[in-house]
Amino acid sequence: MKEGSIRTVVVVGAGIMGRGIALASARAGFKTSVIEPNSAVIESARGEIDKILDRAREKNEIDEAGARAARYNLTWSGSYDAATGADLAIEAVPESVAIKSEVYQNLAPRLTREGVIATNTSSLSITELAATSDRPARFLGMHFFNPVHRMRLVELVRGLETGDPALGIGEEAAKAMGKETVVVKESPGFVTSRINVLIGNEAFTMLEAGVASARDIDKALKLGLNHPMGPFELVDLVGLDTRLSILEYLHRTLGDKYRPSPLLIQYVNAGRLGRKVGRGVYEYPS
Ligand SMILES: NC(=O)c1ccc[n+]([C@@H]2O[C@H](COP(=O)([O-])OP(=O)(O)OC[C@H]3O[C@@H](n4cnc5c(N)ncnc54)[C@H](O)[C@@H]3O)[C@@H](O)[C@H]2O)c1
Repeated sequence: MKEGSIRTVVVVGAGIMGRGIALASARAGFKTSVIEPNSAVIESARGEIDKILDRAREKNEIDEAGARAARYNLTWSGSYDAATGADLAIEAVPESVAIKSEVYQNLAPRLTREGVIATNTSSLSITELAATSDRPARFLGMHFFNPVHRMRLVELVRGLETGDPALGIGEEAAKAMGKETVVVKESPGFVTSRINVLIGNEAFTMLEAGVASARDIDKALKLGLNHPMGPFELVDLVGLDTRLSILEYLHRTLGDKYRPSPLLIQYVNAGRLGRKVGRGVYEYPS
């Protein structure tokens, strides 16, 4: 399969990320099938996509024909048969090697021999995941960001056996979706998470030492360093438990620099997990 030849994309999983990737793919003009076993998730994904398209129409970011074409390009299914013949499969199922590798087993007999598999994993080893598929050379990481329709970057992650043609297909797809790309050799946390968790961890260390209040640390990074969000606002959005598990993984794989701040651990133990539970570093009264 050469560049310029992507016609059909299958997205596996329609959760937070899968639905956003599916919309980006449909807007890029690819015939896009979404495979999701949970019909309630399909309903919520369709509703959210409708809202995003309606808002984009109101803001004139897309015209009526574009919105209609995006809806037309999207089909939803609970069956892997929807993957038959797809040029590119983008997997966005939960962060578990066992679950992801089962997806690849289901895709294997349905994709063409040339078809490429991309995983949206945020931390797992691309090489390890690729080895559980039938096509390690045609396998790469495509790390999208949340919310997909707003965030401009895709990290293209190269595993040990990822071939240049597969990387080219990933790049072509991302560009057609209007994204910028960076190419990253597989390593824990890629570029973005690896730097971001260090900033967030340092913020907790400073808060614990009483260097400044949480609000002032956030304000300092926003107004002094031009970060769009403060580190505590961001961790409340991501989830303190999610952040802790990434730090623990990087601590195990990259060393002591990534040792989670004791204050972060305390917050997680106290159940202060962020916006999703109504309180994290800040309180979010409902
Ligand atoms: N949430 C984020 O901000 C974010 C950002 C970047 C990358 N990621 C990565 O993206 C992936 C998905 O994360 P998410 O936050 O969208 O998760 P999520 O839990 O919101 O969605 C996962 C979906 O996969 C479905 N699913 C489970 N098993 C399946 C199967 N066998 N076949 C098809 N669908 C199946 C689930 O029903 C669920 O709807 C993970 O690897 C995660 O690390 C997440």
